[in-house]
Amino acid sequence: SMSSGFDFTSNLFPLSSTTGAGYAPIGTSASASRPSGGLGGGSLEKHKTLTYLNGLSLIVGLIIGSGIFSSPSQVNVNVGSPGASLIIWLVAGILAWTGAASYAELGGAIPLNGGAQVYLSKIFGELAGFLFAWVALLVLKPGSAAIIAIIMGEYLVRAFIGAEAETINPWINKSVALVGLFAVTFLNCVSTRLGTRLNDMLMFLKFVALLGVTVIGIVVAATGFTFSGTANLDWKKHEWFEGTKVDASAWAVALYAGLWAFDGWDNTNYVVGEFRNPSRDLPRVIHTAMPLVIVSYILANIAYFFVLPLATINSTNTVAVMFGAKVFGPVGSLIFALIVSASCFGALNSSTFTSSRLVYVAGKEGYIPAVFGRIGTGTAAAEHAALSTTRTRSWFSKKLARLFGDEEMGLFYTPIPALILNASLTAAYVLVGEFGQLLTFYGVAGYTFYFLTVLGLIVLRVREPNLERPYRTWITTPIIFCCVSLFLLSRAVFAQPLQTLIVVGFVVAGVPVYYWRIRGRDQVAKREVSSGRESRPWWKFWKARS
Ligand code: ARG
Repeated sequence: SMSSGFDFTSNLFPLSSTTGAGYAPIGTSASASRPSGGLGGGSLEKHKTLTYLNGLSLIVGLIIGSGIFSSPSQVNVNVGSPGASLIIWLVAGILAWTGAASYAELGGAIPLNGGAQVYLSKIFGELAGFLFAWVALLVLKPGSAAIIAIIMGEYLVRAFIGAEAETINPWINKSVALVGLFAVTFLNCVSTRLGTRLNDMLMFLKFVALLGVTVIGIVVAATGFTFSGTANLDWKKHEWFEGTKVDASAWAVALYAGLWAFDGWDNTNYVVGEFRNPSRDLPRVIHTAMPLVIVSYILANIAYFFVLPLATINSTNTVAVMFGAKVFGPVGSLIFALIVSASCFGALNSSTFTSSRLVYVAGKEGYIPAVFGRIGTGTAAAEHAALSTTRTRSWFSKKLARLFGDEEMGLFYTPIPALILNASLTAAYVLVGEFGQLLTFYGVAGYTFYFLTVLGLIVLRVREPNLERPYRTWITTPIIFCCVSLFLLSRAVFAQPLQTLIVVGFVVAGVPVYYWRIRGRDQVAKREVSSGRESRPWWKFWKARS
């Protein structure tokens, strides 16, 4: 129903084409106010397929990736003691939760695909939304996917070559990362369902793994027994707060490392438009996923502290593998390396799914060439075929589709050009990127936009108090989020001035691109209006003539 208070038809909010069939009035007004050949056509949001459980496995699958298995050392080293580390993990988790709850309010009030891009456009004007899309599409999404892919490669190679693999040629890791990236991209091109099913399975695996770590940790701590026989447990000797540092910058770095492990909490917002019941399910997804993840991360960390000496935790970025090795010997390290790479593979898969939707929306908006907003192989004819209800499909493709559980839409009903663009950018980062650099850049750029978006929630509350909000968070939630992320950002400015400058430069570079793309887009629309006809895809002319 269209009862929300937004003037969706206004030209101030020219994002109408992202809305899909669920909000039919918007679609109509879009073609009236901005008729443009590239913007019509297919819409993923017409097929509202996502349920509560899909949403849950999407977000949990994305959040539990590499971080909990590799960041503990960064947290620990920077705050100096196990007790302080646990506090950081808790604070990072709660911060992510406040962010996610704020986004849930925005997603309910503005139930469209595209996440922050849409919210920023509505609240601060289209330039803000464009700049987010610009940074997210070129840096945030492919950059974070590259980090996950690289870590996946490292663990997989380590699993087969051995735990002491510091000497491995990084190009081997990178090749494995690229193969994984290629695989998830291909899966997502074939079928949306296939990707979601894989997510569901991997989410299960991740919880089992984290629960396993916890149970093993408790048993080992209580009995002192390990299969490798090298118990020597000194957790009872830990002074939990001894050595705690009092240095705000170091705590900020630790917080960034923890936040990486919780990152991805905004990703259900990219696909809100594909939910069957977004206003009910989005908050539900957030409020189950976040506490689940927070509790399992804290328990896993406690288990690490129970089993491993502090020196080991502090000196490794593969803490899970060390844990496996300590408890089960070489077999344990192999198993844990496999689990972590599977976990990263799942996160890469979820991330590919949501990024492709972001690219797709940008294509629909005319921010990037319209081909990236198409479904299927990207030609007008292919999209027409994909969207047609009377599509003729071969016996074989029907069978395949049934096998993948995607009978309704059939195979390749996916934003293939968007997926390919995303994969190419990610591959570029895998090739040239250096893990540490990518991570800082990601933190600074990412939190700039999280901050602005949540600030937008507060602005919207003041400016449009009567807007219908199916879910309302406490006002303290966005305020806490804004304060803490402002602290984090200010720290980064001092600690990493160069990185910050690069981020700022990158954002500013998007401004001329905005005027170029948007002027082009609006001129096309104007020409079409004044010539009195909409541009039509070629098959419509063809149909009209025959
Ligand atoms: N939390 C994930 C991990 O621990 C990282 C998520 C990256 N963010 C994203 N939007 N892809 O690996």
